[in-house]
Amino acid sequence: MLKDQETLESPSVARRFVDGCGRTISYLRLSVTDRCDLRCRYCMSERPDFLPKSDVLTLEELYRVACLFVAHGIETIRITGGEPLVRKNLMDLLRPLGDMLKAREGYSSLKALTLTSNGTQLERYAEDLFSCGIRRVNVSLDSLDEKVFSHLTRGGSLGLVLAGIDAALRAGLKVKINCVALDGVNVDTPEVDRLLAWCGERGCDLTFIEVMPMGDIGNEKRLQQFYPLTELRRSISQRWTLEKSSHRSGGPARYVRCLETGKNIGFISPLTENFCDGCTRVRVTCTGMLYPCLGQESGANLRKLLRNPQSDGRADAALSDRIASVVLKKTRGHDFVIDSSNRASVSRTMNATGG
Ligand code: 5AD
Ligand code: SF4
Repeated sequence: MLKDQETLESPSVARRFVDGCGRTISYLRLSVTDRCDLRCRYCMSERPDFLPKSDVLTLEELYRVACLFVAHGIETIRITGGEPLVRKNLMDLLRPLGDMLKAREGYSSLKALTLTSNGTQLERYAEDLFSCGIRRVNVSLDSLDEKVFSHLTRGGSLGLVLAGIDAALRAGLKVKINCVALDGVNVDTPEVDRLLAWCGERGCDLTFIEVMPMGDIGNEKRLQQFYPLTELRRSISQRWTLEKSSHRSGGPARYVRCLETGKNIGFISPLTENFCDGCTRVRVTCTGMLYPCLGQESGANLRKLLRNPQSDGRADAALSDRIASVVLKKTRGHDFVIDSSNRASVSRTMNATGG
């Protein structure tokens, strides 16, 4: 059936992946590891069970997945983790992906290669990222207070992350800051204002994210962590001049423009304001699980097909068919609920899914 809908937009773009709601998939989040050098309290437990190494895709397998999506018209690939920069030899994957950007004219749909990082390794890798063709990175930064940062990440160094962000800016990368809003931790007026001003001074957009009920986080309680962004936006607007903005980053964030800093402030509010309309993303985890929605359990294991010893052409066709059938089942929206049961709405954690 899908064959009839084929749109040949360039010599190498085969049929696009389209979901059951008619949305054309244009954005792949590709996780390269579930490992991380931080232990953020809202993301994982103190001693997480990491995925077995033998299940983690090799860089060659990850590259093959990326190529397959590009052949089907994907325009943006975001590299995620865990912390992607702890993956050994990551540049061996990013370099050829960057080459696809350069070879775009008529042959590749890929328009942007980006990365989400916790910033701890950026000082070391910022220039490499730029030379691979990456121009934008998202860096998670939940607090500018050293003690709060260290508590939240269970021992992370704020100084290292700030040095990483500076290195990224020096290397010519555009940096967007992601901040997960956490009740009683980083949503007080002085803390929020400090972050807004700090981002303004560096020319960084800032996106706040509502904590999502994903996976086991040990003794931490979601309901205690959760802070509604509707409330945060209201409180920010009492002190800063916010203007409506039509800016879109291709994701679920809704933006306003802050006149004092001249930068955008984004809000990702899956719990208080549904963000799913127009979602054209899918995720592939580092073990080759394809998830059409962050907030749904359903997914498909591509690893078996990837490791099937069929000749490459036939195996690629089987992989494409599998992806197309899973994408077709992408639901209109997520299933997130945060209530006093403190149950996770989806069983996998963010680091295992690809944030
Ligand atoms: N809810 C919301 N955001 C989360 N992140 C990690 N776990 C969660 C969660 N449970 C954030 C990270 C990073 C982004 C990729 O996802 O802080 O900024
Ligand atoms: Fe690591 Fe990001 Fe999870 Fe923090 S939120 S533990 S930085 S993967």
